[in-house]
Amino acid sequence: MENKIVILDFGSQYTKLIARRIREMSVYSEILPFDVSLDVLRDRSVMGVILSGGPRSVLHEGAPKLASEFWDLDKPVLGICYGLQLMSHGMGGEVAPASDREYGPATLSLVDGISHPLFKDVASQSRVWMSHGDRLEKVPAGFSTAGWSENAPITAMVHNERPFMGIQFHPEVSHTEMGEKILSNFVFGICKASPDWLMADYIKRSVDEIRERVGEERVLLGLSGGVDSAVAAVLIHKAIGDQLTCVYVDHGMMRKDETRTVVETFQNNIGINLIAVDASGTFLGLLKDVSDPEQKRKIIGRTFIEVFESEAAKLDHPHFLAQGTLYPDVIESASHDGPAQTIKSHHNVGGLPEKMKMELLEPLRELFKDEVRQVGRLMGLPEEIVGRHPFPGPGLAVRIIDAVDAQSVATLQEADALFIDMLHERGLYDDVSQAFAVLLPVKTVGIMGDERTYENVCALRAVTTSDFMTADWSRLPYEFLAEVSTRIVNEVPGINRVVLDITSKPPGTIEWE
Ligand code: XMP
Repeated sequence: MENKIVILDFGSQYTKLIARRIREMSVYSEILPFDVSLDVLRDRSVMGVILSGGPRSVLHEGAPKLASEFWDLDKPVLGICYGLQLMSHGMGGEVAPASDREYGPATLSLVDGISHPLFKDVASQSRVWMSHGDRLEKVPAGFSTAGWSENAPITAMVHNERPFMGIQFHPEVSHTEMGEKILSNFVFGICKASPDWLMADYIKRSVDEIRERVGEERVLLGLSGGVDSAVAAVLIHKAIGDQLTCVYVDHGMMRKDETRTVVETFQNNIGINLIAVDASGTFLGLLKDVSDPEQKRKIIGRTFIEVFESEAAKLDHPHFLAQGTLYPDVIESASHDGPAQTIKSHHNVGGLPEKMKMELLEPLRELFKDEVRQVGRLMGLPEEIVGRHPFPGPGLAVRIIDAVDAQSVATLQEADALFIDMLHERGLYDDVSQAFAVLLPVKTVGIMGDERTYENVCALRAVTTSDFMTADWSRLPYEFLAEVSTRIVNEVPGINRVVLDITSKPPGTIEWE
């Protein structure tokens, strides 16, 4: 992009959020390792630089630092939290360890008469979110204190002549009242960036790039029915039409009617070359009597690759393998020994690229999930696809505790579909990040009409999360839960009791296996 804000990553859990906030302002922003070459930052496309927060202390040996020439950079620089301390430390101020680590809300008070553009239209007192150990004791020469709070006498500092500034709090989190204003003041008021990161342009650019790169070659894409592979498929199809073939593997543990929806959407409505493989017999055969969760996952992962590989062979191995890799995955795998702490473990039915030795095509590498959804919507994908909750690669196998068979899959599909349909009907689907039913290998006694029943228990799981690394269980309305429970017990043969999972993550995981 011709016009961007660079965020140097010092390992804060919020770094990605800074990039997202800026992109929400239609300005392209990119996260780079803190030790990127200065030449990259000097490029004229870089309108400004943000130094992220981070878990370390600038006072400790081995803490990530910037080269001393960085401080001569002729661009606007905003330091956030660790970034502020680094700026102070690097430019001659004083940083001291605080007696207590401050974490949580605080009140930012702007210094009377401060007229710096970073604080244009920012209230003189506002709530901010702090998370820091060290604090600033003295600003470097040339800077003035711009704001203070009870525990941090220098909560904000600005240079008197150069466009350098720093804040102790996190403007990117929603708990900071004026955070968006402060970031937009930096991006537009100080960096003079223009809002030209628009998804419609992205589509055009990406289509041209795909055409150029692929040329006359063919592309193979594994369509899972999830948002990412769906959007990648549609984007690539727009660029190269019939040179793209998608393979969808039905392993027999998909959601109810999933295969029909995928075929209808992609093949019938969009006209994508789609090979839908019904491999349910193979998968269910191999899973017979297997109850260990890890073993189930391994069998599914391995078999998936075999089935996919055999389809690729039938197509005489197209040159490119397309994947719906997103920006967060790119940043995570790029964060070399550096400070960014990789918390997420990788779940994808994986190993395809290494095994198949095909050239990778990843048209969504620059995008965050919400941007992918926007691209999908702009290209006319139905809301049912772009707005859907994530679904694990191994499918219902990880939601049927104990061994899986066709009967348990059918039972769970019904219960799950009922729950999800009702969430849609009541307008609750988008309030939760992921919801599903789980089938337990536990039988309990019940009574239906005059008859005694002895059937399985079904658990409902609904979580709210922004990144799926931590999650809270969703407080769905009791009335709604009561209705779901009644309908499942009445309408799904094989289930006579419904329970609710009220475990957050951690200590639980979202899936049960
Ligand atoms: P956990 O259970 O680890 O799940 O809290 C976090 C998120 O990852 C999804 N998940 C998977 N996705 N393949 C996937 O593509 C998998 O094997 C897998 N296991 C879990 C889960 O649905 C949740 O969104």
